[in-house]
Amino acid sequence: MTATAATTATTSTELDLVDLSPAIDRFRRDVIGALSRAPQRELPTQYLYDDRGSALFDRICELPEYYPTRTELAIMDRDAAAMAEAIGPGALIIEYGSGSSVKTRRLLEELRDAAGCVLVDISRDHLLRSAESLASCFPEVEILPVCADFTAPFDVPEPRVAARRRVVYFPGSTIGNFLPSQATRLLSQMAAQVGPGGGLLIGTDLRKDPAVLEAAYNDAQGVTAEFNLNLLRRINRELGANFELDGWRHQAIYDQELGRIEMLLVSGRAQVVEVGGQRFAFAAGESIRTEYSHKYAIDEFHRMARQAGFSAVKVWTDPKPLFAVHLLERA
Ligand code: AVI
Repeated sequence: MTATAATTATTSTELDLVDLSPAIDRFRRDVIGALSRAPQRELPTQYLYDDRGSALFDRICELPEYYPTRTELAIMDRDAAAMAEAIGPGALIIEYGSGSSVKTRRLLEELRDAAGCVLVDISRDHLLRSAESLASCFPEVEILPVCADFTAPFDVPEPRVAARRRVVYFPGSTIGNFLPSQATRLLSQMAAQVGPGGGLLIGTDLRKDPAVLEAAYNDAQGVTAEFNLNLLRRINRELGANFELDGWRHQAIYDQELGRIEMLLVSGRAQVVEVGGQRFAFAAGESIRTEYSHKYAIDEFHRMARQAGFSAVKVWTDPKPLFAVHLLERA
């Protein structure tokens, strides 16, 4: 079953876009449902990524404190050839959450005779920019953009050239943004999409010193704070809500036992906010959770992947190690 009815549009460079982006009423329903939750309100993480949110996230990736992106890129620079070798020729790569696709470039540079590359992302404009730039860098690879919320099943477009195997590529440790039960479900969805003999190349952030983690999510320049607060701006703009941004502050805390960062928006005063005709009262100090970011030890992650039907083939890490890229295979 697909998330919503699909529409097909043609972009300026004649790429076919399959558009499954969620409608505004789903956004309103999700936000109102999430703000009605007790005792801890939370907003769905995926909505952090409108155009401005995606641009702010790109800036986060460049921050000195935010080690995951540059560490994963260094792993790709060093080991993409070995990854491509282990994946084999003729693969259809399905990239979940295409972002700016820098890491996918590294992989495509090394892959032999890729059957195509499907880019899946919820942010339409960002997705089209990535797809157009990949298509011009890799004219021999068919680029297939799909605008969708990848947390629900979606149809994978077939490339013109038949693929020898399907491999989901999920970089960036985005799997950590899901609760373990949701992450296992998502991995199971990937296992179903790649089918027997298919693969999954996935980046995960490792457990480490809490001080390093808290600095990475509370950067000195306040870009992560702006990224978090942008969700309230988006709700104001798209749903006609009246969040006063100076009444909220960003906070990120690490729960060492559960191995996860929690990103919060904390109300600086007692206030009432109206969203979609409904009123929500917040006490001073009350928070809305906007994101989890789970950190996994390698064997902890492999246990979860096994429950979804994948077995570990190989893991690449940086020397410290801060980050891991795993190649998994479906039996
Ligand atoms: C996209 N995701 C893996 C990032 C993370 O580290 O969990 C999102 C992020 N949130 C704040 N900084 C970065």
